[in-house]
Amino acid sequence: MIKPKKIYLYTIGCQMNVYDSDQMLAGLAPMGYEQADAPEKANLILVNTCTIRAKAEQKAFSFLGRLGELKKKKTDLIIGVTGCVAQQEGAQIFKRMPHVDLVVGTQAIARLPRIVQKIEAKRCRVVDVTMAPVQQKQGPKPQANLQGGITRFVTIMTGCDNYCTYCVVPYVRGRETSRLPSDIVQEIETLVGAGVREVTLLGQNVNSYGQKESLGTFADLLQQVHAIGGLQRIRFTTSHPKDLSEALMRSFASLPKLCRHIHLPVQSGSDRILKRMNRRYTQAAYLDKVARLRDWCPDIEITSDIIVGFPGESEADFQATVDLIEQVAYDGLFVFNYSDRPRTPAATFDDKISRKISKRRLQAVLALQEKIVKAKNSRLVGTKQTVLVEGFSKKQTGLFNASGVHAVQWTGRTNGQKIVNFTCPEETTDDQVQPGSLVKVKIERALAHSLWGHAAPLGPQADVPKGESSYAA
Ligand code: SAH
Ligand code: SF4
Ligand code: F3S
Repeated sequence: MIKPKKIYLYTIGCQMNVYDSDQMLAGLAPMGYEQADAPEKANLILVNTCTIRAKAEQKAFSFLGRLGELKKKKTDLIIGVTGCVAQQEGAQIFKRMPHVDLVVGTQAIARLPRIVQKIEAKRCRVVDVTMAPVQQKQGPKPQANLQGGITRFVTIMTGCDNYCTYCVVPYVRGRETSRLPSDIVQEIETLVGAGVREVTLLGQNVNSYGQKESLGTFADLLQQVHAIGGLQRIRFTTSHPKDLSEALMRSFASLPKLCRHIHLPVQSGSDRILKRMNRRYTQAAYLDKVARLRDWCPDIEITSDIIVGFPGESEADFQATVDLIEQVAYDGLFVFNYSDRPRTPAATFDDKISRKISKRRLQAVLALQEKIVKAKNSRLVGTKQTVLVEGFSKKQTGLFNASGVHAVQWTGRTNGQKIVNFTCPEETTDDQVQPGSLVKVKIERALAHSLWGHAAPLGPQADVPKGESSYAA
């Protein structure tokens, strides 16, 4: 019999790392590894790292540093670094962190179980940051991790070929490689069979899915995923504006399961800066795509990423970004201070912006965005939104009150991307509301980052807005 062992997995970074962490857990489970809820309880600790900005990298090293003490007390503890910092730094990590046993890069995840086995047996150190110059045509073929949950990520392509001048991803994730549509569909079918109701398809630029390998377009893939019975909602991220096609825009109108949200990172509103970033679109071209998206789907929610303080960004360039944000009126924004990254061209640009100016610009964008979102969210007060229930809200983790379970606050998302916390009428039964149910919620309050409401008495299926059918029905 396999002896049960404990793994503590700390994940930093984007959704792809979350997916990769799931893959690692699935690969290690047959060796007897079960998840521990604290590093002190583990036989194996893995840190799945991110290096998109200097801060993310520091976060990984400060966590790893703290593990040194633990290793002194428990000498047979295995400590590993995976993900993008592992890929970037390789064996250098052993010098900086002598208590680390393994360094496994972004394309070596499938080999992780064998590496751990080797270390268990021989107490050696292993580094594997091999990157295939040309990956297998079909890309990785991971197994579905059936650990439960209502919404899950599914990576449809890895790597990136775009080489934005600030970005480390092409160096640490390698060339863009799409998975076969049949593998993706099969994985989602398995997840749906295990109770998953919503998938988010992941790629650094899903709009160029399948192009290099002639696997069909992303819009074609969406149609195939849409046909999977039992799947309620489909999301995807990220879209590069230069590759956003009319066919994909049309999908928002033709595929009812496709959630009406698109993450369309603009990075800057200034054409001069966009050129220096190698983004290959202009402000006008971006705004034109936004307008066409809204023609196809008037209530689509649009979110974006912005970098402030990119080398050479003048006040006028920054103002162009502010103007663009006002014009688009985003439903959500992630705003970042520019950060120099190893090997990227922008790190060698000499007209760097001071931290002080960059921070001021970041604060200004956040303040503007908060105003925009508050106004947009308050327009939803009084409306009914269809929410896919994900679980209990964080504030009230499943405590029952005197009158029964449904006095608890549930949480989920609208068909767009707004988080809704809500309560239900007392007569509500478990069949009507549980994780995975679609529920109509009357929005009563708009907060800065979420909405609050009451589930409307559950009507017949016809009551559910077009594009969503009630799971319970
Ligand atoms: N593939 C996605 C982005 C992945 S990285 C895309 O092209 O949109 C997520 C975000 O991190 C980017 O959109 C960008 O806004 C930010 N980012 C990337 N490199 C950065 C850097 N060097 N400094 C600051 N922000 C950065
Ligand atoms: Fe980085 Fe640009 Fe690729 Fe996005 S598209 S991952 S920002 S290089
Ligand atoms: Fe970070 Fe790597 Fe994702 S650098 S953002 S974890 S691709």
